[in-house]
Parts: sequence; structure tokens; C-alpha cells
Amino acid sequence: MDRVAVGAIIDGKQFAAGLLADIKLEVESLKEKTGKTPGLAVVLVGADPASAVYVGSKHRQTIAAGMQSFKYELPADTSQDELMALIDRLNVDPEVHGILVQLPLPAHLDTHAVIQEINPDKDVDGFHVSNAGRLSTGQPALVPCTPVGCLMLLKDRLGSDLSGLHAVVIGKSNIVGKPMAQLLLAENCTVTVVHSRTKNTPELCRAADILVVAAGRPGLVRGDWIKPGAVVIDVGINRIEADGKSRIVGDVAFDEAGHAAAITPVPGGVGPMTIACLLSNTLTAFCRQHSVTID
Ligand code: GUN
Repeated sequence: MDRVAVGAIIDGKQFAAGLLADIKLEVESLKEKTGKTPGLAVVLVGADPASAVYVGSKHRQTIAAGMQSFKYELPADTSQDELMALIDRLNVDPEVHGILVQLPLPAHLDTHAVIQEINPDKDVDGFHVSNAGRLSTGQPALVPCTPVGCLMLLKDRLGSDLSGLHAVVIGKSNIVGKPMAQLLLAENCTVTVVHSRTKNTPELCRAADILVVAAGRPGLVRGDWIKPGAVVIDVGINRIEADGKSRIVGDVAFDEAGHAAAITPVPGGVGPMTIACLLSNTLTAFCRQHSVTID
């Protein structure tokens, strides 16, 4: 099996850096235009180490983009009422244009109720049912960051017109699989969603011009699941132990994908896009709240 050629590797890190540079310029111009600064509030409940790393990174990149960052670190025993009350305050705070509650929440909290409490216009994760409904009915929505980033990388490779292409999405989560399928449908792709109960997954994948993999299973997609010339987007981030060392791998057996036209590596593919898309969503939310447009 041929190895992946350098030119076939989709460099998400570089793309995200360009996007963040554009966002920074847009923030400057919006500050001049409106006299206001876009602001993002991030809420972390408890001390999950991985979540703390993500929240720290979001905070730093928000500041680096010239926005205001409001970080709330609450104890693990925070009650549902206390968390709802904080969201209620952020919902009406004019300095806060985007709200993100880091998941997973401690088990005693009702995640669905917490997300539905967020003002949909400030829901920069795009998880509120109102935003999911808007996306699926073609109305202006805030769309989950990871699928937005995947679509940007796809268009960068394939051009802006994806119509008629067959896209297969592996995974049906509310955070990635379902919104990804909706975004691709909106681009006039023919979309198949496969998941753990699908009977003929390899065969369905072999029909894909675009293969987006968000299964959370290391190396699930083997080389012979990939059609020659397909574009493969690997959303998986899995930590595995190999040769006594720990490393991060995706859901695709990358070394078997040499016949793909293009593929995202893990790390360095989809991952870096997520925070850039979060800040892009925050700008979108700011512009809608202040009825301004980006030049
Ligand atoms: N935890 C892991 N990824 C995400 C995400 O995209 N948004 C939120 N809110 N929590 C997460």
C-alpha cells in the first residue's frame, strides 16, 4: 500500500493559523466600527484535567484574537440551580456574545437542561435545539465548531462546489456526525450516515467521494474502506499505548490511506480547527447581536 504523499496531507494547523489571523483583523475592524469588543464566556465545572487544558487553550486564543475572555471555574459540587443562575446572568450580559459550557459536566448535572438554558444567539457551540433545528431547516444558525472546521478543510481541497458528491459520515453524535451530515446536505452532497449498528459499513465507505470519520475508535477505517481519490477527514483523537509510549492517533489507519486524494493527519488536522471555528462563531454571534457585517 502506498504511503500518503506529502501533498495529500491536509495541514489543519496551518489553515487554522490563517483563520485566526483573519479573525484577529476582523475583531480590530469591528472594534473600530462599533466601539465594542467581542466577548466569549467559558464555564468549566470541576477539575477534569483534559477539560482544564481545553479551557486554558480557549482562554489564551480568545485573548490572542483581541477578544474579551471570561473564564468561570466552578467547583465540582456546583448545583444545577447555581449553574443555571450563572448562565442566566451571562445570557443578559452585554459584554458576553458567546457562551460555552465545557463538557462533560459532572454526573449530577443535567447536561441537556444546561445547554437549553443558553440563549441560542450566544450558543457558540451550536448545541441548543434551536440551532440544531435552524441548521436542519436552512435558517441562519450557530453550527457546532468541529463540523464547520471539517467543511472548511473539504472546500479548501475540493473547491466551493461540493454538489453531487457522495459523502459518507461515520458517527451520529449530536456534536459531530449529525451536524456534519446537515452541512453536507446543505452543500447538495448525497449523504450517508453510518454508525456502530450499520451492517455494511466498509462497502458504504468505499462509495464515498468524501469520508468524514467521527467514530472515536482508533484505526477503525482501513485502507480498503477508502475509494481511490477520496478526500478523508479524520475527526478521531484517541490516545493509545504502543511500544511502551503513549501517542495520539485518529480513527483512520493513516499509513494505509496512500490512495486517498487527501487526508487530515492526527494530530494536526481537524483538531487545530476547532478553537478557530469557536472564535469565528463568536464573531458571527457578535455581528448578529449588533446588526453589523464583516467586510
Ligand atoms: N468538550 C469536548 N469538546 C467540546 C466542545 O466542542 N464543546 C464543549 N462545550 N465541550 C467540549
